[in-house]
Amino acid sequence: MTEDACFPVLSLIYFLLLDRPQPICPIEGRSGSNLPEQIPLRTLQFKRGLLHELRKGNATTEQIRLHNLVQQLPQAIIIGVRKGGTRALLEMLNLHPAVVKASQEVHFFDNDPNYAKGIEWYRGKMPFSHPHQITIEKSPAYFITEEVPERIFKMNSSIKLLLIVREPTTRAVSDYTQVLEGKERKNKTYYKFEKLAIDPNTCEVNTKYKAVRTSIYTKHLEKWLKYFPVEQFHIVDGDRLITDPLPELQLVEQFLNLPPRISQFNLYFNATRGFYCLRFNIVFNKCLAGSKGRIHPDVDPSVVTKLRKFFHPFNQKFYQIIGRTFNWP
Ligand code: A3P
Repeated sequence: MTEDACFPVLSLIYFLLLDRPQPICPIEGRSGSNLPEQIPLRTLQFKRGLLHELRKGNATTEQIRLHNLVQQLPQAIIIGVRKGGTRALLEMLNLHPAVVKASQEVHFFDNDPNYAKGIEWYRGKMPFSHPHQITIEKSPAYFITEEVPERIFKMNSSIKLLLIVREPTTRAVSDYTQVLEGKERKNKTYYKFEKLAIDPNTCEVNTKYKAVRTSIYTKHLEKWLKYFPVEQFHIVDGDRLITDPLPELQLVEQFLNLPPRISQFNLYFNATRGFYCLRFNIVFNKCLAGSKGRIHPDVDPSVVTKLRKFFHPFNQKFYQIIGRTFNWP
């Protein structure tokens, strides 16, 4: 059942069984960095109720005032990387009662016309939340866009930055697969991955190909480090988020100074989907859309080997900077 489809049923259950939702936490004097140790269970039910209505534009000004709801600038941003698992990460973090997600990619910092609209336009794109909650948005293009680090720094120099990465060659193939699907939808022909990733003149890796460049994580990260210390980043292992998400989410909870609330109950493996899906409560669960978890085309093993060899030194540098090692070949 989708979130939208099941909401009216859930609302009825809340009202009949749990009576009217009340604001759960006293609101005054709380900020994102000073989160309560205990978040009552009903916060989650409340969040799925009124906040959902607010997202759909159904709440009244009176409800917003009564519940002291605000649109907060994000205290944490998932900056990328494209095809790293950014949607899964955002949706899974949103299981936490103290996290509210911006559903859409806002593209404020990487898109000049959007950026020119100013910070209040950006705030207006944020969901309603309680002041003790934290807002998180994700726009994967932020990681590779030159202007973004400085712009985010100007908004909030102490913001927390989440970066989710996958083994670079797999990520590049995933990136290619997404573009390929778009072309096929428009009945366009497209090159094979091998042709794009390897320069036919030199037989070397084609560093002009965007899917290759995006996977050179250290090059992009170095640009961010001109503005933010490395401690302000948390790097999520996107490959592990697929196979065993809970430990990765627990590390993010720690990084965000959130009390541990996401549990194994919230995540279940769906064999049909081949991925972990999300369980919000006994009634409502959901898997990510079918555009996540595409079948990748087979790639010539010699090209895979060449790419892995190419990424290897960049990966070593990346590990050194972030102080974490991944099982990448
Ligand atoms: P593939 O489509 O290559 O498998 P992003 O959200 O940044 O675009 O990343 C998409 C990737 O998220 C998918 O890449 C998929 O492997 C990964 N992913 C991680 N956890 C997932 C989950 N629980 N459900 C679906 N996809 C997930």
